[in-house]
Amino acid sequence: MRSAHHVGRRDFLKRASLGVAAVASVPGMVRATSPVPQLQVACVGVDGMGWSDLSRVGSHPAVKFVGFCDIDSQRFAKADDAFPGVRHFADYREMLSDLGQRIDAVIVSTPDHMHAPVAMEAMRMGKHIYCQKPLTHTVWESRQMRLLAQQQDLTTQMGNQIHSAKEYRSAVQLIQKGVIGKVQEVHSWVRVQGRQYCQRTDRPPAAEVPANVNWDLWLGAAPKRPFAADVYHPFKWRDWQDFGSGALGDFGCHLLDPVFGALGIRQPSGVIAEHAGTNDEVWPGPQTVTFTFPGTKYTAGDEIKLVWRDGGLRPPLDLAQMPAGTEFPPSGSLLIGQLGTMVLPHVGMPRLYPGERFAALQYPEVEARNHWHDWVDAIIQGKKTTAGFEYAGPLSETVQLGNIAARLPGKKLQWDDERFAFVNQTQADKLLSKVYRDGFGVEPVV
Ligand SMILES: NC(=O)c1ccc[n+]([C@@H]2O[C@H](COP(=O)([O-])OP(=O)(O)OC[C@H]3O[C@@H](n4cnc5c(N)ncnc54)[C@H](O)[C@@H]3O)[C@@H](O)[C@H]2O)c1
Repeated sequence: MRSAHHVGRRDFLKRASLGVAAVASVPGMVRATSPVPQLQVACVGVDGMGWSDLSRVGSHPAVKFVGFCDIDSQRFAKADDAFPGVRHFADYREMLSDLGQRIDAVIVSTPDHMHAPVAMEAMRMGKHIYCQKPLTHTVWESRQMRLLAQQQDLTTQMGNQIHSAKEYRSAVQLIQKGVIGKVQEVHSWVRVQGRQYCQRTDRPPAAEVPANVNWDLWLGAAPKRPFAADVYHPFKWRDWQDFGSGALGDFGCHLLDPVFGALGIRQPSGVIAEHAGTNDEVWPGPQTVTFTFPGTKYTAGDEIKLVWRDGGLRPPLDLAQMPAGTEFPPSGSLLIGQLGTMVLPHVGMPRLYPGERFAALQYPEVEARNHWHDWVDAIIQGKKTTAGFEYAGPLSETVQLGNIAARLPGKKLQWDDERFAFVNQTQADKLLSKVYRDGFGVEPVV
């Protein structure tokens, strides 16, 4: 059988011979214009989160947009109003090829299945990348993104912006100061479930593609399927395995971020998912995914258990040692330490229990950072960010390892990170990557 990587390679060579992949700007280069340096940025996906990203990045005085790319001609309006005169493209490959060295950096805010095809091509051309979460659609892609960013010495940032918020930064500091002692166990949960938005488990009948949408480009790397209205584009693609990453992929890179940041965990050694079943089309309903990680200096024991729940499932209330009648926030994390517990609401200040033990505790003075400007500043200064692909790669690999477990519920999977393979689980190994449609492949980093 032809591997996913070979399908992509043929494409890559074809495009390279046309000069697309051969154009390279100097990594780290920023235009030395006076009085401030100028960073020329192109955006792929300019509405939805793409609008949020480009408006925040564009508020930095050094940023000049040179290309807006979107497969939907009706989705440029906000970007055009705020930043008039920027050239439009429907196909990111054309934009990268046409603008070539005029681009220093690229924002990737497409649905998940297109993050890696876009970002990898841009990184091969030496472009710095801001890429939405989850970093990629598969475990293998996350690994390649990390390796290529490192090889090209690029400044990258994943779009898990809460990483820079005061709340999550405070939690990381409190844990690392040892306020609740070494951490013994973690539970994270989110209100939404894997198939949340279309309430479907099967493909709908084909519908006519609206004139404003380029459906072939929207599908990109994914296998062809007919267009249907209000099911995939925009936003609802999240429910579908071919395009999105379920609740764990959607929220894991937010909720698990302060856990990763505080504990210094990286790749898990084991994972198992439990849910009531799904098919090959959509992500499951409410599920519990239990990860095991090797211990670190912030954890107690050789291993630490991290339990993810979605779709309204919560950990047992008594684990938190909260006062009677106190409920968990709708989404958040519970870190159980040797000296007490931390309940960290999703975008809320950490709460420590039992309350009387921490009544006199002075919270550290922590400032919020601007996640988008930090990326721009780091490029200009030739530095790295705090949620670059070196950090975001393993975090995204973890959520996508959880998604492999979700597709094989009840199977206890052991992960051998050095071999980049599961232990004796060839069925799970096959889900580490995917086959790309010709024209949208992702090349391995060699
Ligand atoms: N960080 C956050 O808090 C946050 C919040 C929402 C979404 N996201 C992430 O942002 C990404 C986009 O999500 P969304 O909710 O904005 O989706 P969306 O479908 O609402 O918007 C995606 C935009 O990209 C365009 N697009 C789709 N495919 C494209 C392609 N191949 N080339 C160019 N443009 C393309 C769409 O037309 C649309 O304008 C996802 O990865 C999602 O996980 C992050």
